[in-house]
Amino acid sequence: MTIRISGTGSALPKRAVTNQELSELVDTSDQSIRERTGIGERRISTGDTVASLAASACTQALEMAGKTAEDVDLILVATCSPELLLPCCACQVQNSIGAFRAAAFDLNAACAGFLFAMDTAYAYLQAGLYKNALVVGSEVLSKLVDWSDRSTCVLFGDGAGAVYLEAEPGEIVCENGRRAGIEAILQGADGAKGEVLSCRERPLGNPFLQEQQAFDPYVHMDGRAVYKFATRQVPDCIAAALSQAGLAVEDVDLFLLHQANERIIASAAKRLKAELDKFPMNLQRVGNMSSATIPVLLDELNREGRIQKGDRLVLSGFGAGLTYGATVLVWG
Ligand code: UT7
Repeated sequence: MTIRISGTGSALPKRAVTNQELSELVDTSDQSIRERTGIGERRISTGDTVASLAASACTQALEMAGKTAEDVDLILVATCSPELLLPCCACQVQNSIGAFRAAAFDLNAACAGFLFAMDTAYAYLQAGLYKNALVVGSEVLSKLVDWSDRSTCVLFGDGAGAVYLEAEPGEIVCENGRRAGIEAILQGADGAKGEVLSCRERPLGNPFLQEQQAFDPYVHMDGRAVYKFATRQVPDCIAAALSQAGLAVEDVDLFLLHQANERIIASAAKRLKAELDKFPMNLQRVGNMSSATIPVLLDELNREGRIQKGDRLVLSGFGAGLTYGATVLVWG
């Protein structure tokens, strides 16, 4: 059996917000944002929702795969910024695209969420429970950031990316001799570092409390602690995933890393002793879209024809939790 991605899609809000515009809101400048992160602008929702962006990305992925919504067995949405606590976003997507046969649920592993969702879908397909899955990362983080906090509001953007993952009988051997499919998966979490990047749900509230609790709804982050974690954990995790598959860094054609910060990506490349031009980036245009960064980048590269059959890709990310993961696959 081969489990491969046969369609990709993405959706971004229309409104681009430049660093210059942010410098009118908080004490920052285009230069300081670019120097710290590499980010030049990001898309911000003026009406799109996590569910509507996810549904658009899914429709595109289905179209590319040559499938219809009725073909879909499973919809898995990774998000940490849904509009609704109930029902989950995957059920909204199911209804919106008309995938009435599909099982649907959400998963939250913050910025590493898409990877964890894809790995979960892969395990279902591998076990023979389903034959295909739409896997989505979708976020509207703009509603979770404090727009008066320059250390976080400059980083994030809104958007969604999706892949159609399907299981096919037999092996697909590419022209370069590589077998298409997922070769290694590594996932991890360090819950003890949860405090360094967090956002509260509503607090305990009931008539039986002695005192009502205060509610701070915004994302809080110790940027340096996350940076330190990411620059070490991401390359180490990639190296471990490659070694699990008996592969070396040189065997990889492209590294698609979570698009949080140009400096984190450059540092990972250096630690891995890999050429930086194997690490495509779009964060300059779209910022950090949490779970959506990897599938949006994947879709952009796929549509630009920068990913060819037989290419070996490493997808790797990190996020609140702190969570991290790496998936090695051959495009087929
Ligand atoms: O998906 C995961 C999400 N999180 C991350 O990926 C975050 C990882 N961390 C980072 O990317 C970096 O730590 C940041 C980009 C968040 C910050 O860069 P840094 O070089 O680590 O800066 P810092 O937090 O150590 O702050 C240094 C200075 C501070 O000023 P003082 O205290 O030295 O006077 C900040 O107030 O930079 C200041 N600063 C800014 N100045 C202008 C922080 N943000 C800004 C800003 N504009 N936007």
